[in-house]
Amino acid sequence: MKHIRLSIIGFGVVGQGLAELLVTKKALLHQQFGFDVTLVSVANARSGFIYREDGLDIPTILKLSATKQPLTAHPGVTHWPNALEGLRATGGDVLAEATGTNLRDAEPGMSHIRAALSQGMHVITANKGPAALAAHDLFALAQQHGVHLRMESTVMAGTPVISTVSEGMAGTQVRSVRGILNGTTNYILSAMATGRDYREVLAEAQSQGYAEADPTADVEGYDAVAKTLILAALVFDHSLKPDQVVRQGITAITQEQMQRAIEEGKRIKLIASLNLSSNQDKSSLEASVAPVALPLGDPLSRVDGVLNAITFQTDTLSEVTVIGPGAGKLQTGQGLLSDLIAIAKQ
Ligand SMILES: NC(=O)c1ccc[n+]([C@@H]2O[C@H](COP(=O)([O-])OP(=O)(O)OC[C@H]3O[C@@H](n4cnc5c(N)ncnc54)[C@H](OP(=O)(O)O)[C@@H]3O)[C@@H](O)[C@H]2O)c1
Repeated sequence: MKHIRLSIIGFGVVGQGLAELLVTKKALLHQQFGFDVTLVSVANARSGFIYREDGLDIPTILKLSATKQPLTAHPGVTHWPNALEGLRATGGDVLAEATGTNLRDAEPGMSHIRAALSQGMHVITANKGPAALAAHDLFALAQQHGVHLRMESTVMAGTPVISTVSEGMAGTQVRSVRGILNGTTNYILSAMATGRDYREVLAEAQSQGYAEADPTADVEGYDAVAKTLILAALVFDHSLKPDQVVRQGITAITQEQMQRAIEEGKRIKLIASLNLSSNQDKSSLEASVAPVALPLGDPLSRVDGVLNAITFQTDTLSEVTVIGPGAGKLQTGQGLLSDLIAIAKQ
């Protein structure tokens, strides 16, 4: 029986989702995959970093978070005000990094991930910032220290996208990727296709928790750009910068454009796309995020609501489309769990 000592930094929706799954899937991890997880440390911004050599009691930590009490109320813990200092002082086998995405400098996630890899910890992350801005550097750092870095849940949460390409479709050559990678904008566009007004639907999405109070990252396409950068690095091994992705959001789409598309038998979707073109041994990758009117024969045209989807065009498989959730507590926690299992298997 393997024992994995896990640290979770960032204990919001996703960190708690993973913690819940560690409780509900404990027997399955033991019986099916032959390992146990001891959660040795947890950190959030308010409480800092707590550590317990013999392991934290997960239901207690979840209850403290749900009732907005400090994590330091867990019995018998050692405390550091700063997650990075706590992580450096304590370590573990695997870090699950789930602090908020920051697409300017990827902090604080970048420092947490770099510190963990440098001290020989495997890392699993849902944080799009470090993955979008520095995937190549971080994979190189992981390799240098003989550890794994996995980021399934950064694109389409727990719906297997990255592992589908790297493991399930190993050996095929992906030529292009097109995806609906942002649930908020897909929810808005799906509702607009029924004749509703953009502002009204955005307000509804905000009240239902699908859209942030400041929806800019979603509606202007920045979130989809981050996922496009991650796919560029992981699927095509191309390190693109954010300004190399042509970006157009959905805020300028009118009801007239929506209805014209419907009359033409099409649906407008916010499509992230990556196209590989090769000439004379040099390959270049064109990347964009923009609204596109798709014919109804295209599987992406029929993916509605908060669902996400991605279509890979490859040399041996023609087209492969994966559809599934792109967000949510347990859905994203599942992506981290599958990464943890993959690491445990190795
Ligand atoms: N939610 C989803 O469905 C989803 C899906 C895919 C990917 N993701 C990505 O997963 C990550 C987490 O998302 P989330 O929805 O869980 O966000 P969240 O609920 O806002 O949680 C973020 C957590 O990070 C903590 N944090 C912030 N700065 C910190 C620091 N310096 N040290 C330690 N902890 C710190 C916060 O502490 P406090 O609790 O004290 O504020 C909070 O616990 C994000 O990068 C997001 O883009 C989320």
